[in-house]
Amino acid sequence: MEVMEAIRERRAVRDYTGARIERATVERLIQAAILAPSARNLQPWAFAALLDCERIGGYAKRAKSWLLANFAQTAYDESLRKMVEDPNFVMFYHAPALLLVLAKSSDAQAAEDCCVAAENLMLAARAEGLGTCWIGLARPWLNLPSTKAELKLPESFQVVAPIVLGHPKTWPEAHGRNPAEIYWLG
Ligand SMILES: Cc1cc2nc3c(=O)[nH]c(=O)nc-3n(C[C@H](O)[C@H](O)[C@H](O)COP(=O)(O)O)c2cc1C
Repeated sequence: MEVMEAIRERRAVRDYTGARIERATVERLIQAAILAPSARNLQPWAFAALLDCERIGGYAKRAKSWLLANFAQTAYDESLRKMVEDPNFVMFYHAPALLLVLAKSSDAQAAEDCCVAAENLMLAARAEGLGTCWIGLARPWLNLPSTKAELKLPESFQVVAPIVLGHPKTWPEAHGRNPAEIYWLG
């Protein structure tokens, strides 16, 4: 798939078939992620992957409960609360794989570097016919020291991009974009 086609055809996918994701697939996507640029080429990222639909489902419930109990402490807009409160709202959409892009350092630009790597990963997934969805709402729970300890992630690492991955049941329609706001500076 051409790069522009992958960019155009990527979607946030929220409905997955039960088909499993293999480790080799995740490794390929991570190889694409680490080709991303990073400030001073520091490559301050690490990756975590869970390929167990049942455990992902359990974490989805816990992340949701935590978020509802602590919503006011988060930076999320109140309007999101209703969406999360819906009994049918499942944080990780029953995906068979959960990937985390982690910042290993508190370097000033580590989070940006991880975001660029995350986009590479999502585009590489699209080129393989796989769907992804960035799950920002899970980040506060994933970044709790207790969650990182349970997942055996170093406490100093920051979860920047939680991304679910799987085989889409269908590809959603494009959401469309607002026209680009451009200021020509000369
Ligand atoms: C930083 C970030 C956080 C996001 N968090 C969530 C989320 O928690 N749950 C979700 O369903 N989608 C989430 N998304 C996906 C966006 O809602 C989606 O990309 C947007 O609606 C545009 O749709 P498209 O990706 O299909 O073009 C997130 C995307 C980004 C970049």
